[in-house]
Amino acid sequence: MAELFEDLDPPQRLLMGPGPINAHPRVLQAMAAPLLGQFDPKFREYMKQASALYRGVFQTANRWTLLVDGTARAGIEAALVSLIEPGDRVLIPVFGRFGHLLAEIARRAGAEVRTIETEWGTVFTDEQLSRAFLELRPKIVAVCHGDTSTTMAQPLEALGRLCRGNDALLYVDATATLGGMDLPVDRWQLDVVSAGLQKCMGGPSGCAPLTLNERAEKRILRRRHIEEGIRDKNYKAGDGPMIASNYFDLAMIMDYWSDKALNHHTEATTMLYAARECARVVLGEGLPAVFARHARASQAISAGLSAMGLKLFGDPRHKMANVTGVYIPQGVDGDRARRALLEEHDIEIGTSFGPLHGKIWRIGTMGVNATEDAILRTLRALEQVLAAQNFKLPAGAGAAAAAAGWRG
Ligand SMILES: Cc1ncc(COP(=O)(O)O)c(C=O)c1O
Repeated sequence: MAELFEDLDPPQRLLMGPGPINAHPRVLQAMAAPLLGQFDPKFREYMKQASALYRGVFQTANRWTLLVDGTARAGIEAALVSLIEPGDRVLIPVFGRFGHLLAEIARRAGAEVRTIETEWGTVFTDEQLSRAFLELRPKIVAVCHGDTSTTMAQPLEALGRLCRGNDALLYVDATATLGGMDLPVDRWQLDVVSAGLQKCMGGPSGCAPLTLNERAEKRILRRRHIEEGIRDKNYKAGDGPMIASNYFDLAMIMDYWSDKALNHHTEATTMLYAARECARVVLGEGLPAVFARHARASQAISAGLSAMGLKLFGDPRHKMANVTGVYIPQGVDGDRARRALLEEHDIEIGTSFGPLHGKIWRIGTMGVNATEDAILRTLRALEQVLAAQNFKLPAGAGAAAAAAGWRG
């Protein structure tokens, strides 16, 4: 007989990395609700409610506000593969790892990709974006809002105006900022935006909320195809090239979410319950209050780390509210310190990628962990771990400064 192993009993960690973070207890509870079939009238009602709730979270009136099953990158793939037709010119401003991911996905979708890059820890000025745009005249611009790899957030308002004024579509990856930083999709004229649950939304990974407006809808529906086994006799395909992915075909996913309820995938019921509850938690607190709490957490952790004699990473004017980059001090073994935090204090913080690997740690303060308590616990543990590696720092200064920062 195959070994059954022990009962599932994972340790209770405090997840203070750049995501995933601890899920809100109400979200975990919602995930234990009984399963329903995706065409059960009660479940269709939950789907409609999820759409309505995410219109609130995305600050949009977009009819097509739905959930893509899969992690946040499923939302990115669905958006890009459905928007990009082979040969389309696509501009991608890259200010971290996730900009490179957008470029890779766009290339796979057959785009003629042009990237512009800026040093990690900085973002683009409106002028830089405008210059690149006017040079390339792209059909689509794809950009991250907050790139967790560098902890920077790109201002998007002027880019939204630029794209709208020049008839280009703007896609935004808001995985890391939705529910933590202001992202008024309609006011900023963002055409398609996707996200995940495992950061500021306070849920598990595995679901990608996505919203798209009528401009994007028009482009996607030109490519609408229905699977052969479920077409009716009046079926007529769209004129545009078939979307290269079946699973991420937004035209099909829109048909599935519409009142037509055209069959596509088997909805991940439990994830929809989770997403619905995440949105109820965020909107229940109120968007202005949620954004203010994340901004406060950013101030607190930044003040605490600085008081410990550590140096913060990146341009402070463009720092994400929910992730903080901090240089690993000289003489400290960064991976050993992270391991000690995990093993001795049950706290996870993030390492970093690419050019920043071994240079900075990334500490997330988001969702249920954007609290004074979580921040003080993390800083006190970090102080002990650093002291164990003979890094000299003033005892208790980090927590005291963070508490003062939290109070503003
Ligand atoms: C900005 C950003 N985009 C995309 C992703 C990919 O998300 P996932 O791992 O859920 O597919 C992440 C994950 O950290 C992210 O931070």
